[in-house]
Amino acid sequence: MKSLKRHHGQGKRIVLFIALIGTLVALCAGFIGAYSWSTQQQIQADQQALAVLTKQVEQRIAEIEAKKVEPVYLTLPGADTIEVRREDYTNPDSLWVLVNKQNSVSLEYVPEKLVLPGVPVSASDRLVSEVIEKPLIDMFAAAEADGHGLMVGSAYRSSSYQASLFNGYVASAGLEQASRYSARPGHSEHQLGLAIDISSASQQCFLQACFTSTPDGQWLAGHAHTYGFTLRYPEGKEAITGYNFEPWHYRYVGPELATALYQSGLTLEEAWSSIEVARQTLIKNRAPELVLDATNRR
Ligand code: DAL
Ligand code: ZN
Repeated sequence: MKSLKRHHGQGKRIVLFIALIGTLVALCAGFIGAYSWSTQQQIQADQQALAVLTKQVEQRIAEIEAKKVEPVYLTLPGADTIEVRREDYTNPDSLWVLVNKQNSVSLEYVPEKLVLPGVPVSASDRLVSEVIEKPLIDMFAAAEADGHGLMVGSAYRSSSYQASLFNGYVASAGLEQASRYSARPGHSEHQLGLAIDISSASQQCFLQACFTSTPDGQWLAGHAHTYGFTLRYPEGKEAITGYNFEPWHYRYVGPELATALYQSGLTLEEAWSSIEVARQTLIKNRAPELVLDATNRR
């Protein structure tokens, strides 16, 4: 009887033990299940966050790429808004480079391609940068159609030729006088191949202020900007340009800027701060034309 009771007690413990194990197994399974569910949730949340981030990065890259090619505009007072040239205006190959008493070009600089333009020229130093040959021909043809025979009096000058001219003027007129109408070597726009001294074919008022009152001088003053040429040393701006009135000296900057200068009545010097702002915007936008240009500089 006693041993039967003991036997029964043992069976009960076994049942309890099995129940305990079962409970533990069930609990573990529950924990594992809950854990893997929450891990799954976490992975999903991480994947969503990553997708949002990826989209933001892609958008930012697209914005940066769009900025690089975004047009930059220039509005001079009283002039129509123009889109700026996508180049570094501090490079002497730029059509907008500023060369004057304060800003020089290297004495070694020679334009990439010089050509003898197909227009009447007066002597030997009459090459121009290839870039302005067509505009020059077009302008002379338009002048001729309006009854004006024009001639190129002077065009590209090497720095050594400019030096001989300047020294000659200094010898004959003195430094102070010579500096009012002749540039020192490295400071003349003529070295860029973009400047031309234009005269009447008849040479009436040849390189003289009275050229401004001749029909040819008047025609040029009213039309040159259309062909991309700006009158660089206008009357009344001597203190700004550093030179006497030269109604014959035209500089190619392209029709857009030449027209804006014409409309605003500003010289390149006076427009320069606005042009520099445009250049800084191109740099800030990482315009490849300027970034590449800067990389290629010596
Ligand atoms: N006559 C202009 C200023 C020059 O020499 O370039
Ligand atoms: Zn000149």
